[in-house]
Amino acid sequence: MINIQVFLSQFLITDELTLKDKNVVIVDVLRASSTILTALVNGAKEIIPSENVSVAARISKGLGNSVLCGERNGKVIEGFKYGNSPFEYTPENVKGKSLIFSTTNGTVAITKAKFAKSAVIASYLNLNAVIHYLSELNEDFVIVCSGKLNDFCIEDSVFAGLIISRLFDLNGKDKYSILDSGYACYKLAKQFLYKTANPEVNRVYHIFKKSEHGKYLCSLGFEEDLKYCSSIDMFTGLPQIKNGIIKLKETFEIEASAKSKMKRVNISNKPGASIE
Ligand code: MLT
Repeated sequence: MINIQVFLSQFLITDELTLKDKNVVIVDVLRASSTILTALVNGAKEIIPSENVSVAARISKGLGNSVLCGERNGKVIEGFKYGNSPFEYTPENVKGKSLIFSTTNGTVAITKAKFAKSAVIASYLNLNAVIHYLSELNEDFVIVCSGKLNDFCIEDSVFAGLIISRLFDLNGKDKYSILDSGYACYKLAKQFLYKTANPEVNRVYHIFKKSEHGKYLCSLGFEEDLKYCSSIDMFTGLPQIKNGIIKLKETFEIEASAKSKMKRVNISNKPGASIE
């Protein structure tokens, strides 16, 4: 039996040890999760999340080829280069760069997972990758909805419910155990996303448009961001957080295998290492 726990807002995690040794899925579909994935797919070297603007600025000072990115209340932070619109994170803007990223809710949730056993970032844009990862992981996990300004938000909770619903479809309901928060999300996803045969993208967009944060983003002129973030499975990449750095899971894997190859070469090059 796999236990799925859902936090309806990152605000509910008051102790940094809450997520210690857990498998964590961070959700901030509007827009941090979607923007982070876009930046990495478009070639950013890495993303360093920071809860705090002044810490972000300090990290950037000590790091070559880095760019300060992020928002407060949806708007670019003063003195930062890019905000939180996925459209800013083009290959021309991000290729090979370290992005120091600070957002109102998303990066706060991410930093709360610093003692997690594993942590990945999920959005509609990589739904399938998330489902396959969790299915293969085959262990208990926690979904952290970032929420909005220390409160619940509908768009993250519906997405958490969609994750649960897809896993039920793939592996059978009996394999999983959920609590009331997970059950509520599951019911929300069923209610909002599954009314007609193939409705999901339009329905996701509809939820975004109705949501508090969606309305706020539209008032700032970011309606296209809502459309973009409602696209399902645009990418196959899965952002992962390791030692405070976010990269695509496959990038971490490639780096780990290159390191272990180098170690093997070094050992066999040592005098006396080869036995004839
Ligand atoms: C956040 O992290 O609070 C959000 O992604 C806000 C936004 O849409 O910029």
